[in-house]
Amino acid sequence: MTTHSGSSARFNKLLSLDDFEAAARRHLPRPIFGYVHGAVEDNVSIALTRNSFRSYAFVPRTLVNVSQRSTDTALFGHNYAAPFGLAPMGLSALFAYRGDLVMARAARAANVPMIMSGSSLIRLEEVIEENPDAWFQAYLPGEDARIVALIERVKRANFKTLVITVDTAVAANRENNIRTGFSTPLKPSLRLAFDGITHPAWLFGTFFKTIVRHGMPHFENNYAERGAPILSSTVLRDFSDRGHLTWEHVERIRVLWPGTLIIKGILHADDARKAVRSGVDGIIVSNHGGRQLDGAIAPLSVLDEIVQAVPEIPVMLDSGVRRGTDVIKALALGARFVFVGRPMGYAAAIGGDGGVAHAIRLLREEVRRNMGLLGVTAISEINAQHVRHVRHS
Ligand code: GLV
Repeated sequence: MTTHSGSSARFNKLLSLDDFEAAARRHLPRPIFGYVHGAVEDNVSIALTRNSFRSYAFVPRTLVNVSQRSTDTALFGHNYAAPFGLAPMGLSALFAYRGDLVMARAARAANVPMIMSGSSLIRLEEVIEENPDAWFQAYLPGEDARIVALIERVKRANFKTLVITVDTAVAANRENNIRTGFSTPLKPSLRLAFDGITHPAWLFGTFFKTIVRHGMPHFENNYAERGAPILSSTVLRDFSDRGHLTWEHVERIRVLWPGTLIIKGILHADDARKAVRSGVDGIIVSNHGGRQLDGAIAPLSVLDEIVQAVPEIPVMLDSGVRRGTDVIKALALGARFVFVGRPMGYAAAIGGDGGVAHAIRLLREEVRRNMGLLGVTAISEINAQHVRHVRHS
């Protein structure tokens, strides 16, 4: 059901972030659920990433007074209510009605950061209006003039934080999208129509409602100007070639961008050092939720060496975070903050603002409860002594 009221009774069967996945699988047409859920080729990275959290175990401390615990976490001068935020997700407004706005509002209400994807269908100017703290994640256009124009637009809109994703040098082999009939833009077909009519809550509550109220969605934020419509019979690929982009581009962006600059998609300590030398303010260690290079290592497996390589900047992490215990393990290994993608997308799809609020609440409560069981009262107390690397089957 797609409604946007926040009554928590609607969500009382959703006890953990994975429960949102099962609900979204029922709610969304197969190609659209598949786009969010899917990874790349043989799903090796996503499996490695989920398992990486299991290869660390907690070493809790006991008889510490944990009656007062706080999940408050400072990052880039902002005091957030939790050590996690919403990772960028492309096409949010296709799987959730006004998805980017939903996530922007829910994050603002919960006082956690929200990163909007550049591969999105709602103008970035509207998103920052809903949440003045929203971060913008750009996919850099291939041509220098278009990079400059996009950055100028993001700056004019008053974004304070720019995230550049760097693990998309060439398009990933998303076979799962071909198998389910998903493409960008979507190509009208009988199969797509059938997938739509067999998921009427999404068809009427998200797709038609969007078209009736806001017109045909277009890619709005890949460039300074509007891109292709989401539905097109001639499937034109509106993604520029980024194969030639290098650290020199980051250095030039540093000159153009006065706000906080973050690079997402780092997995090697030397690249973290290059990021610092290029003047960035923070990095997100990420394998893009296992969606780019299949077999790319799990962020958690390289976190410690990257944190040691760049002690001068906050190192954040995304990919595969599903539980409060995952959040705490990443923090114990040196992450300052983590970001959660797919589950928040599913929450927006099935429950709008109330769904995302519920997902954030669940994860924050898990972090708070597990801090108590671990014997810590503040996020800053979580450290490497709280975890041990273990084998797992
Ligand atoms: C977009 O960023 C995607 O991973 O599909």
